[in-house]
Amino acid sequence: MYKTVRDLTEDAERLNMTIGAFNMHNLEMLPDMIRAAKEMGAPIIIQTSVDTAKYIGYNVIVAVVEELANSMIVDVALHLDHAKDFDAIKDAIEAGYSSVMFDGSSLPFKENIEKTKLVGEYAHARGVSVEGELGTIGGTEEGVSLSEEDKEYTRPNDAVTFVRETGVDVLAVGIGTNHGQFKSKTNVKIPLLKEIHQVVDVPLVIHGGTGVKEEDYPDLINNGIRKFNVGTELLVNWTQQAKDCFAETPVNKSLRYNIIPANQKVKEIVKHKIGLFMNKNHPVNVG
Ligand code: 13P
Repeated sequence: MYKTVRDLTEDAERLNMTIGAFNMHNLEMLPDMIRAAKEMGAPIIIQTSVDTAKYIGYNVIVAVVEELANSMIVDVALHLDHAKDFDAIKDAIEAGYSSVMFDGSSLPFKENIEKTKLVGEYAHARGVSVEGELGTIGGTEEGVSLSEEDKEYTRPNDAVTFVRETGVDVLAVGIGTNHGQFKSKTNVKIPLLKEIHQVVDVPLVIHGGTGVKEEDYPDLINNGIRKFNVGTELLVNWTQQAKDCFAETPVNKSLRYNIIPANQKVKEIVKHKIGLFMNKNHPVNVG
C-alpha cells in the first residue's frame, strides 16, 4: 500500500526497528528494490533527489511506485530527498509524492525554522509528511570525510526548539555521518544521538547510511533512528555490475544482459540492509 514516511516511522517506533530509505538512481532498479522489501516482509521508503525526479518525471515515478506497491502488496512511501527549493516540493506533492524533505540545514537556524515551518504547513494540509534537517551531514570525496571543523553537529536543545516550532514529522540529525562515503566508514556519535533522542519526541533520520558501520546499526536503532538512508552503496554497485556486463556483452545483445544483473545487485543489498534494519535481536517498544 502507498503510505507516508510518518505512517511507516510510527510503525517502526512501535517495533523498535528502522525503515530503509533507499535512493533510486534510475527507473530500472525500482521494481527490484520493492521486490526486495516484499521478500523481506518489510516496508520500504523509496526516495529520489530533485534531479532524479526531474530526469525521470515526478508523475512517472509516482505512477510506477504506486502500481508496484499495490500490485505487490508492500507498504511503500515515496519521499523527495534534500529539496532546498519550495517549487520542487510543490511539484512533488502535486504529482503525488507522499513525503518530502526540506533541507534548510545550511541556512541560519531561524531561517531554517521559518522555511521548514512553511513547507510543513503546505505539506500537512495535503496529507504529506515532512522531514527537516538540523546540523550538517558532511559530503565526501574519494571516501575522505569533511574536516571536523567544517561539520556542525546537531545540538539537542536546538533540536527541541526546531521540532516544536516547525512541526516536522521526522528529523535528520548531524551525528558524524557523510553523504557519499563508500571507501571508508565513519565514527558515528552515539552518545550525542542518545542525548537528542532523550529530548526530542519525533522519529530520527540517519543520512549517509553507506558510510555507517553495520555493527553500529543496533545502537542507532535503539536510540531512535527510524529512517535510515542508503544511496551511494546502491549506485556504486549497480554501476560496477553494469560496467562489467557492458564490457563483455556484444553491442547487439539485449540490454537485459547488462541491466538485469545490475538490478539484482541492488536487490541483494536492499534485502541485506532490511534484514539488519529489522533489529530482530532487540525487544520491541512496549507501552
Ligand atoms: P549515502 O549515499 O551516503 O548512502 O547517503 C544517502 C542519503 O543520505 C540520501 O539523503
